[in-house]
Amino acid sequence: MKTVRNLLVFIAILAWTAAVAVAQGVAPLTPGPHDMLATAGPQADHIGRLWNLFLTVCTAVFIAVFAAFLYSIWRPRRADARTPADLSSLDRHERGPYRSVVFGVVLSTVLLLGLVFASVWTDRALARMPLVDAVNLRITGNQWWWDIEYDAVPSSDSFRTANEIHVPVGRPVLVTLRSDDVIHSLWVPNLAGKKDLIPGRTALMQFRADKPGLSRGQCAEFCGFQHAFMGFEVIADPPDVYEAWAARQRQEAPSPTDPQLRRGQQVFLGSTCVMCHAIQGTDANARKGPDLTHVAGRTTLASGVLPNNAEDLKRWIQNPQKIKPGTNMPSSTLPDADLNALVAYLESLK
Ligand code: CUA
Repeated sequence: MKTVRNLLVFIAILAWTAAVAVAQGVAPLTPGPHDMLATAGPQADHIGRLWNLFLTVCTAVFIAVFAAFLYSIWRPRRADARTPADLSSLDRHERGPYRSVVFGVVLSTVLLLGLVFASVWTDRALARMPLVDAVNLRITGNQWWWDIEYDAVPSSDSFRTANEIHVPVGRPVLVTLRSDDVIHSLWVPNLAGKKDLIPGRTALMQFRADKPGLSRGQCAEFCGFQHAFMGFEVIADPPDVYEAWAARQRQEAPSPTDPQLRRGQQVFLGSTCVMCHAIQGTDANARKGPDLTHVAGRTTLASGVLPNNAEDLKRWIQNPQKIKPGTNMPSSTLPDADLNALVAYLESLK
């Protein structure tokens, strides 16, 4: 009776474990822009295949070990008061169990070596992605936003943006990673694995997007209070759309002619904004915060925290500490008319 009861308890535990696994598996089955199984390029494909191999082997081993465990508690007869235990096997050399142990050790070694080999092969495949005609990016991690520089020859074709990366479909991207404060980690699961940004060192990573679309990126190394709100977007565009976007980014901000926008520009240049931000085509060229030359062309504000529209931009300028406590951006004390003009000017910078 006890054996049957124990067996039922273990089957209940197994069923519970399986139910939890299925429940957790339901959400990632819907492919999204932040999903290592919804791959959009060769680097993520390599990692996805390695993941599938590990999952298959580990699931098979788990099932085999659990089946052997259930068999072992079900098989032997138990001793009780009337039938004493048969201990004669302790004096015999039993071949069956001995063979099972040797088989288990050999099989485990072969499987583990196979997984090591697959990991090394994947690593080499990741490093061997061809880089002909690559787009060169320099990304700097900051608490808590991403500074993105497109390096080009001639250097007048280089430009700077923040928290939103556009790449051409089918062309490799070579990224040089740096950090100015603490360790961050760049992670776009649909496109590539993680890579750390370590102060005082530079790291390289390469990826390629093979289909157009949006991938969401996230800082993947705890870097302070707002680590969870250090997101960014990678938008893979068809080559002509990308070229048009890059050409727009290279342009300086136009001088506003509308009186309201002109006032907004004067507010920007006359306030503390210029201590941290740059707008190409004006005297503002500080690099402490995001480049705002084309801020209105981006989809989000504050590293993915807010949608980019006039109302949220105004809320952000008024009291960034309320929206993202700990951020380096100070609150504004501008009168309402100046604030409205400033927001109108920034929202005109497409
Ligand atoms: Cu940057 Cu976490």
